[in-house]
Amino acid sequence: TMAAAEGELVPDMQRRTIMNLVLLGGAGVPVLWLAGGFVYFFIPPSAGGGGGGLTAKDALGDDVKTAVWAKAHPFPERSLVQGLKGDAHYLIVKQDGSLENFALNAVCTHLGCVVPWNRAQNKYMCPCHGSQYDPTGKVIRGPAPLSLALAHVDDVEGNVVLSPWTETDFRTNTAPWWK
Ligand code: FES
Repeated sequence: TMAAAEGELVPDMQRRTIMNLVLLGGAGVPVLWLAGGFVYFFIPPSAGGGGGGLTAKDALGDDVKTAVWAKAHPFPERSLVQGLKGDAHYLIVKQDGSLENFALNAVCTHLGCVVPWNRAQNKYMCPCHGSQYDPTGKVIRGPAPLSLALAHVDDVEGNVVLSPWTETDFRTNTAPWWK
């Protein structure tokens, strides 16, 4: 039917428009890379080693250096690295130029779209069905049922290392749903 056809077309168009905005906003490389349908995602060779820690990779697959990254993606920008399970994760550079000790898995907990950071609105806004997350990744608008998954961030010899977050979710005071 006509209605069904529109229903299918509109979200795609919105997604494309928002995608273009994101591209113009300077997040071009990671979003393009994500738009490739996860073709470039890989299970890093170091997965499982080092007590569950994993060196974050940039869009080219190179190790992410803490100092270089913080300088290239200053507050209030938030940019993606490849992290645990091959999922895109946001590293958060604080106002003082240091790295937040948690990263956010960018995969929307609704149906898995990668959620862009909206700097002007100071929240993550999913282009697919409108879910929103606050700056800590806590869900503030559905249909997403859960907050974005957390990962620990550590500097190990100058590299950004992500490791599984198995403790209480500090945003909800509940056990982590992603464990
Ligand atoms: Fe994000 Fe549906 S996948 S709102």
